Amino acid sequence: MKPSQLGAVDLAALRKMDTHVVHPWESFDKPNSSRTVLRGGEGSYVTDAQGNRLLDGPGGMWCVNAGHGRREIVKAMADQAGQLSYTSPWSHPTEPSARLAERLAAVAPGDLNHVFFATGGSTAVDSALRFVMFYNNVLGRPEKKHIISRYDAYHGSTYLSAAVSGKSRDKNWLDTQLDTVHFISSPNPYRRPEGMDTDSFCRHLVDELEAKILEVGADKVGVFIAEPILASGGVIVPPKGYHAACLGVCRRHDVIYISDEVVTGFGRLGHWYASEPVFDITPDIIVSAKGLTSGYIPLSAVIISDRLIQAVGGDSERGAVFSNGFTYSGHPVSCAAALANMDVFESEGLLENARELGPYLQEQLQTLSDLPIVGDIRGQGLMGCLECVASQESRQPLTLDYEVGSRIDAHCQALGLLVRPLINMCVMSPPLCVTRQQIDDLTRILREGIVRTMADLEKEGIASFG
Ligand SMILES: Cc1ncc(COP(=O)(O)O)c(C=O)c1O
Repeated sequence: MKPSQLGAVDLAALRKMDTHVVHPWESFDKPNSSRTVLRGGEGSYVTDAQGNRLLDGPGGMWCVNAGHGRREIVKAMADQAGQLSYTSPWSHPTEPSARLAERLAAVAPGDLNHVFFATGGSTAVDSALRFVMFYNNVLGRPEKKHIISRYDAYHGSTYLSAAVSGKSRDKNWLDTQLDTVHFISSPNPYRRPEGMDTDSFCRHLVDELEAKILEVGADKVGVFIAEPILASGGVIVPPKGYHAACLGVCRRHDVIYISDEVVTGFGRLGHWYASEPVFDITPDIIVSAKGLTSGYIPLSAVIISDRLIQAVGGDSERGAVFSNGFTYSGHPVSCAAALANMDVFESEGLLENARELGPYLQEQLQTLSDLPIVGDIRGQGLMGCLECVASQESRQPLTLDYEVGSRIDAHCQALGLLVRPLINMCVMSPPLCVTRQQIDDLTRILREGIVRTMADLEKEGIASFG
């Protein structure tokens, strides 16, 4: 059914029912009862309950990579559910999961040829970290369990994936502390120390990683986990050469490198996985989710190197078992969706489109730099972010904090664009089928939304932009 054919909905009744839903990041002190209800989607657009068409700036949550309403993916899911809706991944291989694993191994870099399927980014991160623990136990080094992550990282919401996430506000009301997890600086060039150029900043960060490994003890540090671009932390693009240098440090100290490509994978940066073609690294493990099924159904994958798998296998006496799995690991309907999603990518040249239009999105976002509230504009490929500040000179946050992004989003929605507000930031990650015209519309509306927000803030005496 096309979004334009959707029947009327009783919005008030729906909102009342929705009070029973506990949303992610729910505030029980200030429940948000004004979330926009969406009911349809086609290509780069979604339709709200009143029938308004909105350009999907965040692409769902950086996951609707193939775009909304893809009949090929829907059909593949329906066909698979009709043929075999479920079978235990413990006992029975299925054609979709076997075919998908082979296809992921083919597009992953280097010798990353072994795929463990999970249900979402968090469970995949958890599984990847548990695999590292397993690996070091099997190798007889049970001490080598410590994990190094970065401030501003986001890796998920299970206990372990939250424990390795480094967004300080998310730790205010939940316990995520683990003695085996250590954090190093966020590689955010916009917030680098005063007077330091980006090359020196990069060296400083890499030295910090090595110093942290030495401080904890190289015999104790098992793994470094890093998003190539820190996504939910605010689209933080590390300085050039950062990842390759970090991988060098990890290799020197026999530390496993996990590249969390939950967001950067599946075309966001123009490639199946960005680690090798964009950041010049072949990690030991890649974590993939979101765009893997373009958000049509949950699925994630942990792609592990031959080197690691060979090290934990082959000893029939030992009988080591990686006791980690989910009822829905490699669910056949999810894997069928992922295969159809990859077919859409190939038949429509979505990776090529992302490679061509990624730089155009960045160029267009940069045209907003004249707006005094905009402190930093950053991103790469089809992921971008504007950070709002009190003044471009001071880089200090506005007193409004959380509300700035949501105020811009509200204005933009009225003008036909969904934004992902992240505290004082606005994030953009449109579907990979986005067009040049849609990027122009996105930029135009974003400008107007920001101008209106600035006018409101001045009128309310909250800020002054000269
Ligand atoms: C880089 C990264 N890793 C892991 C996750 C967790 O994924 P999920 O929400 O599917 O559990 C996210 C979610 O946004 C993410 O951005």
